[in-house]
Amino acid sequence: MTATAGQGSVEGRWGRDRTAGPVRVALLGSGGSIGRQAVDVLARNAEAFRVVALATGSQGRMLEEQARLLRPARVSLADDRAAARLDLAAGTEIVGGPDALERLATGPDVDLVVVATGGLVALRSVLAALEAGKVVATANKETLVAGGHLVMPIVKRLAAGTAAATGDDSHPLASPLGWLRPIDSEHSAIWQCLVGEQQAAIERLLLTASGGPFLNAAVADLATVTPEQALRHPTWTMGAKITIDSATLANKGLEIIEARWLYDVPLSAISVVIHPQSVVHSAVQFVDGSMKAQLGTPDMRLPIQYALTYPDRLPSPAAAVDLIAAGRLEFRAPDEERFPALRIAREAGLAGPRASTAFLSADEVAVARFLDGSLDFNGIPKLLGAAVDRFGAGEPAEPSLDQLIALDLEVRHFVEAYR
Ligand SMILES: NC(=O)c1ccc[n+]([C@@H]2O[C@H](COP(=O)([O-])OP(=O)(O)OC[C@H]3O[C@@H](n4cnc5c(N)ncnc54)[C@H](OP(=O)(O)O)[C@@H]3O)[C@@H](O)[C@H]2O)c1
Repeated sequence: MTATAGQGSVEGRWGRDRTAGPVRVALLGSGGSIGRQAVDVLARNAEAFRVVALATGSQGRMLEEQARLLRPARVSLADDRAAARLDLAAGTEIVGGPDALERLATGPDVDLVVVATGGLVALRSVLAALEAGKVVATANKETLVAGGHLVMPIVKRLAAGTAAATGDDSHPLASPLGWLRPIDSEHSAIWQCLVGEQQAAIERLLLTASGGPFLNAAVADLATVTPEQALRHPTWTMGAKITIDSATLANKGLEIIEARWLYDVPLSAISVVIHPQSVVHSAVQFVDGSMKAQLGTPDMRLPIQYALTYPDRLPSPAAAVDLIAAGRLEFRAPDEERFPALRIAREAGLAGPRASTAFLSADEVAVARFLDGSLDFNGIPKLLGAAVDRFGAGEPAEPSLDQLIALDLEVRHFVEAYR
């Protein structure tokens, strides 16, 4: 990117220059749980943001509605046949083909890319967008779990470039988190706690977890859990995959690996705390013994909006926490005997990107198999362990993008065939 800080530049748009115009946004995965909430946030803040590109996988009708509301210049539907039937207003171009997401994410009129796709679908686009000097706000944790070693060096380079170009270490884009903004509520919470703090002051990150619907269930009962029961999350309404991951605690496992990359702290300095009320979204303990936490209602529009407006805050549709109504807030340690996915993820994170990728790729298939009835609930962590054991070691220790995509496929085949 060109490291200029003038009007109309990326730095200008996020600096003190309020004349730079609306931030121009590409939203990948607009039809999903996060994507629809991002559309809501963007539509409510039409003066601050202009949506120039939207992409979803298969939901043509939804994409048409979103395009009518937001008037993007370009849209993409991964399902090419459905894309051919899209009914769009004049002025909206359909972008197709295998590199459609990448083209949307790197368009010359894009300032910020919101990543709301699951899995590794958008990893190539995230890398391309960052290389093209776009800010990335990601709900997708897989990007960092598998590709943290590829993504973070670019992000750090971009932040250093801004600091050098502006001479202002406090510029929003002089921090890696200004370029790669977490939307995941726990990571947004930690980010909010870290504003104004020094890296050296961090003692420990505490990721909270609701514990899911089976927090108090015995191991024997877990064996007979049905998808319907597992899909009933006690506090959050989310997509099916992440809801099952919350029930197994695999989601928290992915999150500790995501946090290790985002905040540049060792896994040994990241703890998980079960907090069934989901009011404290996460916390940071500092070297002086002080602890900061971010509290909120379980509404993803808040972290989505913060990632868009950072370093500013705007009014949001999310209700504020009522501490009196919340009453009692409980915290306890996770039980890794009953929920071994958390332990397996930590071990995978310590082993490196191959093992982390094996964990997340195996989890996608294991969850799909649980939902279609071909695997029981306790079979999910069993498969995760088997995949990490089988694929975690090997060379290269830090795979390239193409090697990660190949590894993802190999792990998926293994888990599909596993009996
Ligand atoms: N849901 C939450 O509250 C939440 C919270 C924190 C983090 N996250 C993370 O956010 C990510 C998304 O989660 P979600 O729950 O929103 O998932 P989701 O509801 O399954 O949505 C995924 C979206 O990706 C789209 N998609 C799939 N393949 C695509 C492709 N090739 N090109 C373009 N779009 C494609 C889907 O399109 P179609 O539906 O049209 O096929 C859908 O719009 C995950 O990584 C998850 O872990 C989610």
